[in-house]
Amino acid sequence: MNEYFKSLNKYVISEEMNLLEQYAKINGIPIINKESLSFLLLLIETNNITKILEIGTAIGYSAINMALLNPNIYIDTIEKKEEMCNLAYKNICLFELNERINLICDDALNLDINVLKEEYDLIFIDAAKAQNINFFNKYEMKLSKKGIIVTDNLFFHGILFKKDLSKNLRGLSKKIKLYNEFLSNNNNFKTYFIPVGDGMSVSIRRYND
Ligand SMILES: C[S@@+](CC[C@H](N)C(=O)[O-])C[C@H]1O[C@@H](n2cnc3c(N)ncnc32)[C@H](O)[C@@H]1O
Repeated sequence: MNEYFKSLNKYVISEEMNLLEQYAKINGIPIINKESLSFLLLLIETNNITKILEIGTAIGYSAINMALLNPNIYIDTIEKKEEMCNLAYKNICLFELNERINLICDDALNLDINVLKEEYDLIFIDAAKAQNINFFNKYEMKLSKKGIIVTDNLFFHGILFKKDLSKNLRGLSKKIKLYNEFLSNNNNFKTYFIPVGDGMSVSIRRYND
């Protein structure tokens, strides 16, 4: 069924994009899956989102797909690994998007937020999953009034529901659960948990008026 829908979803089909997907697959680089990407692109289109902050670039796959949606979209994307930064830069240039995708090679937890724009319509959190709470707390102040924060991999590749995990995975799984609960109990944000792809959340600010 998934394969069937994949073939119908024709928002971006190009040889270069197929190559990016293959590169990620062959080299074990985690990129957003197609279901989640469809959902994310739908959110961007229906909310007229133009200013995006992405935490976790990898090879630039999600940033490139978002930027290709329309020419008014501008993205700041943060990646801490030098090797990924180099690959992402190459790919962004390949798609001729270097005017609209600003790659910031730094650790998002250390970055001086003053180098960023005043505010963003979308903050996409897709980096080290154990740090989700820290990313959220650090960057939520950069969210515009009607903006949304989207987080990917809340099922942690299904590991969240598995028993008999190694100590490391148990620790990581616990941190992801803590993040999910942090979102669920957050008085300043209302979060929708969407069971699409590997589990995504969409958080919007709560207003009393
Ligand atoms: C899941 S991948 C990103 C995938 C990408 N968003 C996509 O869908 O094409 C996560 C990336 O976040 C990066 N990362 C992890 N912790 C980070 C941090 N503290 N600051 C910046 N990047 C980080 C990793 O190096 C990795 O390349």
